[in-house]
Amino acid sequence: MDDNEACFKCHGESKFQLEDELTGRVLTRQVCKDHMILREEYYASNHKSFPCFDCHSREFAIFPHPLDIRLEEPWACLDCHGYDEDYAQYQFEKIEEEYLASTHHLATEEFSCWKCHDNHSYQISIRNTENLTETIAYDNAICLSCHADFDQFQLLTDREGINIIQTHDWLPNQALHFQSVRCIECHTQVNDSILVAHLILPKEEAVQNCNECHSSDSRLIHTLYKHQSLEAREKYGFLNAVVINEAYVIGANRNYILGLISLFVFGLVVLGLATHLAFRIIKKV
Ligand code: HEC
Ligand code: HEC
Ligand code: HEC
Ligand code: HEC
Ligand code: HEC
Ligand code: HEC
Ligand code: HEC
Repeated sequence: MDDNEACFKCHGESKFQLEDELTGRVLTRQVCKDHMILREEYYASNHKSFPCFDCHSREFAIFPHPLDIRLEEPWACLDCHGYDEDYAQYQFEKIEEEYLASTHHLATEEFSCWKCHDNHSYQISIRNTENLTETIAYDNAICLSCHADFDQFQLLTDREGINIIQTHDWLPNQALHFQSVRCIECHTQVNDSILVAHLILPKEEAVQNCNECHSSDSRLIHTLYKHQSLEAREKYGFLNAVVINEAYVIGANRNYILGLISLFVFGLVVLGLATHLAFRIIKKV
C-alpha cells in the first residue's frame, strides 16, 4: 500500500511539515486527533484492503486539500453493500430501514452510519466473537465515543452534555452492568430478523424494568446472546441452547435450577412409591 503511505505521511503521524519550496522554510505542525489514523487499526479493519483513493478523491494528493473535495458527499455503506448477494447475511437494507427510524437520524441529517462505524477502524465483532466481554466493551465504546466525549457530541447537537453516569444512577452496580450488557440492549427495539438491532429509541422507551433481563424469558436471549444461541442451537439442538443462554444471567437461570431440583424431588417420590409398591407385591407373593 505505497499509495497510502503518501497520506499516512501526515495522517498516520502526530505531526507533519509545512514546506515552502521557494524559500526552503519548514514549519512543524500538529495533526489534530480527529485527522489521525493509526496504521495498525486501519489494516485490521473490515476495509483494510482499500487504498485511501477508493473512498476519497485523488485530488487529496494536493495539499492544502481543496475545499470542493472536502465537501464531497462520502460513499454510504449501501452504495457498496446494498442488494449484494455476498453481504446478504448482514441484511444492510433492513439495518438501514431501522437506522432511518432511529432517534439519531431523526435528530440530525449530519448523523450517518459512519458516525458509529469508524471510517478507518470499524471491525465486525459480535458476529464472530470469541470473547463476549471484549465485544461488549467494543460496542459500548462506539456509543461512548460521543456520549462520554462532549467535544464529539456537541458537533451534532445544541443540547447540553448528557452525564451517562447520572442518567443511569437508578441502575444498581452500574459498572458491572456496563461490562455485562451493551447500551443497545436497553436502547433498541428487539428485532429477531437482524443480528444487531439498529433502531435506537427515544429515551422514554428505554428498558428500565429489571425483569426484562432478570427473568427466564430474558430479552438478552433476543439481543446480546442471540448469536451464541443461534450457533448453539445449530450445534447442540434447541434445548441445550436455551440452557446455555440461561446460564448467563442471574434470575434467568434460577427457574432452570429450581426446575431441575423439583424434577429431582419428583423423581425421588416416584422412586419411593415404586419401591414401596414393589415390596408390597413381593410380600404378597
Ligand atoms: C502534508 C500533509 C498531508 C498529506 C500528505 C495529506 N493530508 Fe489530508 N489533511 C492534512 C491536514 C493538515 C488536514 C486538516 C485540514 C487542513 O488543514 O486542510 C487534512 C485533512 C484531510 C481530510 C479531511 C478534510 C475535511 O475537511 O474533512 C481528508 C479526507 C484528507 N485529509 C485526506 C487525505 C488523503 C486521502 C491523503 C493522501 C492522498 C492526504 N489527506 C494527504 C494534511 C495532509
Ligand atoms: C471505506 C471508505 C474509506 C477509506 C478506505 C478511507 N476513508 Fe477516510 N473517510 C471516509 C469517510 C466516510 C470519511 C468521513 C467523511 C465525512 O464525514 O464527511 C472519512 C474521513 C477522513 C478524514 C477526516 C477525518 C475523519 O476521520 O473524519 C481523513 C483525514 C481521512 N478520511 C483520511 C483517509 C486516509 C489517509 C485513508 C487511507 C489510509 C482513508 N481515509 C481511507 C471513508 C474512507
Ligand atoms: C466503497 C465501497 C464500500 C463502502 C462505502 C463500504 N464498504 Fe464495507 N466493504 C466493502 C468491500 C469491497 C468489502 C470487502 C473487503 C475485503 O474483503 O477485503 C467490505 C467489507 C465489509 C465488511 C466485512 C464483510 C465480511 O464478510 O468480511 C463489513 C461488515 C462492512 N464492509 C460494513 C460496512 C459498513 C457498515 C459500511 C458503512 C459504514 C461500509 N461497509 C462501507 C466495500 C464498501
Ligand atoms: C448508533 C450507532 C450505530 C449506527 C448509527 C449504525 N450502527 Fe451498525 N452497528 C452498531 C453497533 C454497536 C454494532 C455491533 C458491532 C459488532 O459487534 O459487530 C453494529 C453492527 C453493524 C453491522 C454488523 C451486523 C452483523 O450482522 O454482524 C452492520 C452490517 C452494520 N452495523 C451496518 C450499519 C449501517 C448500514 C448503518 C447505517 C444505515 C449503521 N450500521 C448505523 C452501531 C451503529
Ligand atoms: C439497563 C438498561 C440500560 C443500559 C444498559 C443503558 N441505558 Fe441508557 N438509559 C436507560 C434508561 C431507562 C434511560 C432513561 C432514563 C430516564 O429517562 O431517566 C436511559 C437514558 C439514556 C440517555 C438519555 C439521557 C438524557 O438525559 O437525555 C442516553 C444518551 C443513554 N441512556 C445512553 C446510554 C449509553 C451510551 C449506554 C451504554 C454505555 C447506556 N445508555 C446503557 C437504560 C439503559
Ligand atoms: C457520533 C456521536 C454519537 C454516537 C456514536 C452515539 N450517539 Fe447517541 N446521541 C448523539 C447525539 C448528538 C444525541 C442528541 C440528539 C439530539 O436530540 O439532538 C444523541 C442522543 C441519544 C439518546 C437520547 C435520545 C432522546 O430521546 O433524547 C440515546 C438514548 C442515545 N443517543 C443512545 C446512543 C447509543 C445506544 C449509542 C450507541 C449504539 C449512541 N447513542 C451513539 C450522538 C451520538
Ligand atoms: C439489559 C439487561 C439488564 C437489565 C435491564 C438489568 N440487569 Fe442486572 N444484570 C444484567 C446482567 C447481564 C448482569 C451480570 C450477570 C453476571 O455477570 O452474573 C446483571 C447483574 C446484576 C446484579 C449484580 C449481581 C452480582 O453478581 O453482583 C444486580 C444486583 C442486578 N443486576 C440488579 C438489577 C436491577 C435491580 C435492575 C433494574 C433496576 C437490573 N439489574 C436491570 C442484566 C440486566
